[in-house]
Amino acid sequence: MSDPLLRYRPEFPILERTNYMISNSLGAMPRAVYDALRGYADTWATRGVRAWEERWWMLAVEVGNEIGNLMNAPESSVSVHQNVTTCQAVVASCFDFTGKRTKVVYSDLNFPSVMYFWEAQRAYGARVDMIKTDDGITVPTERLLDAIDEHTMLVPISHVIFRSAYINDAAAIIEKAHRVGAHVLLDTFQSLGTVPVDVQALNVDFACGGVLKWLCGGPGVGYLYVRPDLGRKLEPKLTGWFAHQNPFGFEVGPTRYTDAPFRFMNGTSHVPSLEACRPGLKIVREVGVEKIREKSKRQTARLIELAEQHGWRVNTPRDAEKRGGTVSIDMPDSQQVSRELLAREILVDWRPKAGVRFSPHFYNTDAEIEAAIGAVEQILGERRVAV
Ligand SMILES: Cc1ncc(COP(=O)(O)O)c(C=O)c1O
Repeated sequence: MSDPLLRYRPEFPILERTNYMISNSLGAMPRAVYDALRGYADTWATRGVRAWEERWWMLAVEVGNEIGNLMNAPESSVSVHQNVTTCQAVVASCFDFTGKRTKVVYSDLNFPSVMYFWEAQRAYGARVDMIKTDDGITVPTERLLDAIDEHTMLVPISHVIFRSAYINDAAAIIEKAHRVGAHVLLDTFQSLGTVPVDVQALNVDFACGGVLKWLCGGPGVGYLYVRPDLGRKLEPKLTGWFAHQNPFGFEVGPTRYTDAPFRFMNGTSHVPSLEACRPGLKIVREVGVEKIREKSKRQTARLIELAEQHGWRVNTPRDAEKRGGTVSIDMPDSQQVSRELLAREILVDWRPKAGVRFSPHFYNTDAEIEAAIGAVEQILGERRVAV
């Protein structure tokens, strides 16, 4: 069966040397990043400070729009930041946790950095209500919905769970939150680029994530979507001169907020990372998330099928509609197996309570899936002999 998505393989040098199954952690680097970073250095070297006016200042808006385009966000509704944790801080700083609405509701399957941030906000009045998973794979939606009440300020929640790839019922969570006057901050780090995201159809208040995984954009760029009606009125207290109406006026005293996306930014932008992420965004846009999703469902189904044939525990939903791009497999000695896979140039990772995470992307072949599982089988066989 021919796979048209494989025509992009030559764009990613690392695929020549490794079985790259780790796009849930760091997507493969597009070859064009060499040119992008050389272009950055050339601009700096030849244009010097003029680069800000000629290119760098507006780069933040352009990259925000390129990311926004992948999630059906309106122009200028996506600001760029360094990472998801910073995005949480920007959103938190828009709200006051001293009144009646102080509850922050999320699942214990959220990415830990997000939980560490919100736990620390207790010092400013936030009351964290963390809903525990029953099986380590799925989020108990009904209990989460019940916890969202008229005292809830915010629901910062992952769209796709990093440990298990479970897809949260974002529509139901947003609907409940809005019914009681709360806001949802959807972390689309593990969805955007592999699972379709439409912020307008979801009517979500905020969405954040980063580009280094499924978007093949490298480290250093996080993004924050703010629904335009909120973007016109919210005033982040984590702010700075990029968010000022007249940044080059260098006015003293309180700020005068400009419009989104700069309104949600603060200090000088991370230009090299912004340049480096564009080739990945361009390729993902060209390939199309619908096609990526279709292939991902097929390859992740095959991984589950193979794991089940061997009797290994699968910590990922069987239902393709509830599953993102990763399959977590907890075979015997899984941490050791993951180390041995790395030694054989099969790039995966291991997480506690998950096992080995296999994350094929649009550039992976079906043969690589078979080879990765074949290698696990071989490693376990050799270990049995050794014991
Ligand atoms: C769902 C999710 N959110 C956030 C992060 C990372 O957060 P940050 O960008 O703050 O490092 C990750 C992964 O590394 C993740 O999987």
